[in-house]
Amino acid sequence: MDASDMGADLEKVLVTADQISQRLAELAAQVDEDYAGKDVLLVGVLKGAALVMSDLVRALHLPAQMDWMAVSSYGSGTKSSGVVRIVKDLDTDVTGRHVLIVEDIIDSGLTLSWLVANLSSRGAASVEILTLLRKPDAAKVDVAVRYTGFDIPDEFVVGYGLDFAEHYRGLRFVGTLAPHVYETPHPTGASSTTEASTTE
Ligand code: XMP
Ligand code: MG
Repeated sequence: MDASDMGADLEKVLVTADQISQRLAELAAQVDEDYAGKDVLLVGVLKGAALVMSDLVRALHLPAQMDWMAVSSYGSGTKSSGVVRIVKDLDTDVTGRHVLIVEDIIDSGLTLSWLVANLSSRGAASVEILTLLRKPDAAKVDVAVRYTGFDIPDEFVVGYGLDFAEHYRGLRFVGTLAPHVYETPHPTGASSTTEASTTE
Protein backbone atom coordinates (compact mmCIF):
# COMPACT_ATOMS: atom_id res chain seq x y z
CA MET A 1 0.00 0.00 0.00
CA ASP A 2 1.11 3.56 -0.55
CA ALA A 3 -0.36 6.97 0.33
CA SER A 4 -2.76 6.94 -2.63
CA ASP A 5 -4.48 3.82 -1.24
CA MET A 6 -5.29 5.55 2.05
CA GLY A 7 -7.68 8.19 0.79
CA ALA A 8 -8.92 10.51 3.54
CA ASP A 9 -7.77 8.25 6.40
CA LEU A 10 -4.24 9.64 6.32
CA GLU A 11 -3.39 12.89 8.09
CA LYS A 12 0.32 13.16 7.30
CA VAL A 13 3.34 11.09 6.32
CA LEU A 14 6.05 11.16 9.02
CA VAL A 15 8.63 8.84 7.47
CA THR A 16 8.64 7.98 3.75
CA ALA A 17 9.36 4.56 2.23
CA ASP A 18 12.65 5.86 0.81
CA GLN A 19 13.74 7.22 4.20
CA ILE A 20 12.96 3.85 5.80
CA SER A 21 14.94 1.78 3.31
CA GLN A 22 17.90 4.18 3.39
CA ARG A 23 18.01 4.22 7.20
CA LEU A 24 17.65 0.43 7.47
CA ALA A 25 20.61 0.02 5.10
CA GLU A 26 22.66 2.27 7.41
CA LEU A 27 21.60 0.35 10.51
CA ALA A 28 22.32 -2.99 8.81
CA ALA A 29 25.85 -1.82 7.99
CA GLN A 30 26.38 -0.96 11.67
CA VAL A 31 25.00 -4.32 12.78
CA ASP A 32 27.28 -6.11 10.29
CA GLU A 33 30.27 -4.28 11.74
CA ASP A 34 29.32 -4.72 15.42
CA TYR A 35 28.49 -8.44 15.17
CA ALA A 36 31.25 -9.48 12.75
CA GLY A 37 32.37 -13.00 13.64
CA LYS A 38 29.45 -13.47 16.06
CA ASP A 39 26.41 -15.66 15.73
CA VAL A 40 23.49 -13.22 15.99
CA LEU A 41 19.88 -14.17 16.68
CA LEU A 42 17.34 -11.58 15.53
CA VAL A 43 14.22 -11.69 17.72
CA GLY A 44 11.23 -9.99 16.10
CA VAL A 45 8.25 -8.90 18.15
CA LEU A 46 5.05 -9.85 16.34
CA LYS A 47 3.20 -8.49 14.64
CA GLY A 48 4.52 -4.96 14.27
CA ALA A 49 8.17 -5.82 13.65
CA ALA A 50 7.48 -8.17 10.72
CA LEU A 51 8.22 -5.55 8.05
CA VAL A 52 11.32 -4.14 9.78
CA MET A 53 12.65 -7.68 10.22
CA SER A 54 12.09 -8.71 6.61
CA ASP A 55 13.83 -5.64 5.22
CA LEU A 56 16.62 -5.68 7.82
CA VAL A 57 17.55 -9.32 7.36
CA ARG A 58 17.85 -8.80 3.59
CA ALA A 59 20.02 -5.71 4.09
CA LEU A 60 22.44 -7.60 6.36
CA HIS A 61 25.51 -9.40 5.06
CA LEU A 62 25.78 -11.38 8.32
CA PRO A 63 24.21 -14.84 8.24
CA ALA A 64 21.71 -13.92 10.98
CA GLN A 65 19.05 -16.30 12.29
CA MET A 66 15.50 -15.16 13.01
CA ASP A 67 12.99 -16.07 15.68
CA TRP A 68 9.76 -14.45 16.84
CA MET A 69 7.87 -13.65 20.01
CA ALA A 70 4.36 -12.36 20.40
CA VAL A 71 3.58 -10.45 23.56
CA SER A 72 0.46 -8.76 24.77
CA SER A 73 0.50 -5.59 26.86
CA TYR A 74 -2.51 -4.93 29.00
CA GLY A 75 -3.92 -1.43 28.92
CA SER A 76 -6.11 0.60 26.63
CA GLY A 77 -5.90 -0.05 22.90
CA THR A 78 -3.33 2.68 22.34
CA LYS A 79 -1.28 2.65 25.57
CA SER A 80 0.72 -0.17 27.10
CA SER A 81 0.73 -0.72 30.86
CA GLY A 82 3.95 -2.63 31.34
CA VAL A 83 2.07 -5.78 32.32
CA VAL A 84 3.30 -8.11 29.61
CA ARG A 85 2.18 -11.65 28.77
CA ILE A 86 3.96 -13.98 26.34
CA VAL A 87 1.48 -15.08 23.67
CA LYS A 88 4.06 -16.91 21.56
CA ASP A 89 7.49 -17.74 22.90
CA LEU A 90 10.77 -18.30 21.04
CA ASP A 91 11.53 -21.70 19.52
CA THR A 92 15.23 -21.05 20.10
CA ASP A 93 17.23 -21.56 23.30
CA VAL A 94 18.98 -18.20 23.76
CA THR A 95 21.55 -19.44 26.28
CA GLY A 96 24.90 -18.01 25.23
CA ARG A 97 23.41 -16.34 22.14
CA HIS A 98 23.87 -12.75 20.99
CA VAL A 99 20.28 -11.55 20.77
CA LEU A 100 19.22 -8.48 18.81
CA ILE A 101 15.58 -7.60 19.45
CA VAL A 102 13.95 -6.10 16.37
CA GLU A 103 11.05 -3.74 17.09
CA ASP A 104 8.79 -1.42 15.20
CA ILE A 105 8.46 1.26 17.87
CA ILE A 106 9.40 2.18 21.43
CA ASP A 107 6.72 4.28 23.01
CA SER A 108 6.73 4.18 26.84
CA GLY A 109 9.56 1.64 26.77
CA LEU A 110 7.68 -0.65 29.17
CA THR A 111 7.32 -3.59 26.78
CA LEU A 112 10.97 -3.59 25.75
CA SER A 113 12.42 -3.13 29.22
CA TRP A 114 10.39 -6.19 30.27
CA LEU A 115 11.58 -8.12 27.21
CA VAL A 116 15.26 -7.29 27.72
CA ALA A 117 15.05 -8.46 31.35
CA ASN A 118 13.21 -11.61 30.30
CA LEU A 119 15.73 -12.61 27.60
CA SER A 120 18.72 -11.71 29.79
CA SER A 121 17.38 -13.95 32.55
CA ARG A 122 17.47 -16.89 30.11
CA GLY A 123 21.25 -16.57 29.89
CA ALA A 124 21.72 -14.76 26.57
CA ALA A 125 25.33 -13.65 26.02
CA SER A 126 24.06 -10.18 25.06
CA VAL A 127 20.71 -8.52 24.46
CA GLU A 128 20.51 -5.38 22.34
CA ILE A 129 17.66 -3.51 20.66
CA LEU A 130 17.07 -2.24 17.15
CA THR A 131 13.92 -0.19 16.67
CA LEU A 132 12.68 1.60 13.58
CA LEU A 133 10.89 4.30 15.59
CA ARG A 134 11.20 5.86 19.00
CA LYS A 135 9.02 8.45 20.75
CA PRO A 136 11.44 10.20 23.14
CA ASP A 137 8.67 12.34 24.67
CA ALA A 138 6.62 9.27 25.65
CA ALA A 139 9.37 7.40 27.53
CA LYS A 140 8.36 6.20 31.00
CA VAL A 141 11.42 4.04 31.59
CA ASP A 142 14.94 4.33 30.27
CA VAL A 143 15.75 1.61 27.78
CA ALA A 144 19.21 1.39 26.26
CA VAL A 145 18.58 1.20 22.51
CA ARG A 146 21.62 0.36 20.41
CA TYR A 147 20.09 1.12 16.99
CA THR A 148 17.31 3.65 16.37
CA GLY A 149 15.84 4.45 12.96
CA PHE A 150 13.92 7.67 13.64
CA ASP A 151 12.82 9.73 16.62
CA ILE A 152 9.22 10.82 16.10
CA PRO A 153 6.74 13.04 18.01
CA ASP A 154 4.43 11.53 20.63
CA GLU A 155 1.56 10.83 18.22
CA PHE A 156 -0.14 7.53 17.39
CA VAL A 157 1.30 6.29 14.11
CA VAL A 158 0.45 3.56 11.64
CA GLY A 159 2.11 1.88 8.68
CA TYR A 160 5.14 -0.26 7.98
CA GLY A 161 3.93 -2.93 10.43
CA LEU A 162 2.09 -0.63 12.83
CA ASP A 163 -1.67 -0.89 13.02
CA PHE A 164 -4.82 0.72 14.22
CA ALA A 165 -7.29 -2.11 15.00
CA GLU A 166 -5.20 -4.36 12.69
CA HIS A 167 -5.50 -1.99 9.74
CA TYR A 168 -2.74 -0.16 7.83
CA ARG A 169 0.15 -2.55 8.63
CA GLY A 170 0.89 -2.90 4.90
CA LEU A 171 1.66 0.77 4.26
CA ARG A 172 5.16 1.35 2.90
CA PHE A 173 5.53 4.53 4.99
CA VAL A 174 4.74 5.66 8.55
CA GLY A 175 2.04 8.25 9.04
CA THR A 176 -0.61 9.62 11.35
CA LEU A 177 -4.33 9.07 10.96
CA ALA A 178 -6.98 11.69 10.46
CA PRO A 179 -8.97 12.07 13.72
CA HIS A 180 -12.21 10.89 12.08
CA VAL A 181 -10.69 7.38 11.79
CA TYR A 182 -10.37 6.81 15.52
CA GLU A 183 -13.15 9.10 16.72
CA THR A 184 -15.94 7.23 14.89
CA PRO A 185 -16.81 3.54 15.40
CA HIS A 186 -14.51 1.37 13.31
CA PRO A 187 -15.99 -0.75 10.46
CA THR A 188 -14.68 -3.91 12.14
CA GLY A 189 -16.37 -2.97 15.41
CA ALA A 190 -13.04 -2.43 17.18
CA SER A 191 -12.21 0.90 18.75
CA SER A 192 -9.08 2.36 20.28
CA THR A 193 -10.41 2.44 23.81
CA THR A 194 -12.44 -0.72 24.33
CA GLU A 195 -9.71 -3.34 23.98
CA ALA A 196 -8.51 -4.94 27.20
CA SER A 197 -5.16 -5.83 25.73
CA THR A 198 -3.16 -5.31 22.58
CA THR A 199 -0.83 -7.64 20.75
CA GLU A 200 2.12 -5.67 19.48
P1 XMP B 1 5.57 0.60 24.84
O1 XMP B 1 4.70 1.75 25.32
O2 XMP B 1 5.54 -0.55 25.79
O3 XMP B 1 4.83 0.19 23.50
O4 XMP B 1 6.98 1.07 24.50
C1 XMP B 1 5.27 -0.84 22.77
C2 XMP B 1 4.25 -1.35 21.79
O5 XMP B 1 3.04 -0.57 21.72
C3 XMP B 1 2.64 -0.44 20.37
N1 XMP B 1 2.64 0.98 19.99
C4 XMP B 1 2.10 1.49 18.87
N2 XMP B 1 1.44 0.91 17.85
N3 XMP B 1 1.20 3.01 16.79
C5 XMP B 1 0.99 1.68 16.81
O6 XMP B 1 0.41 1.17 15.87
C6 XMP B 1 1.85 3.68 17.78
O7 XMP B 1 2.01 4.90 17.70
C7 XMP B 1 2.32 2.87 18.87
N4 XMP B 1 3.01 3.18 20.01
C8 XMP B 1 3.17 1.98 20.67
C9 XMP B 1 3.67 -1.18 19.53
O8 XMP B 1 3.18 -2.46 19.23
C10 XMP B 1 4.87 -1.28 20.42
O9 XMP B 1 5.65 -2.42 20.17
MG1 MG C 1 5.75 -3.76 18.52
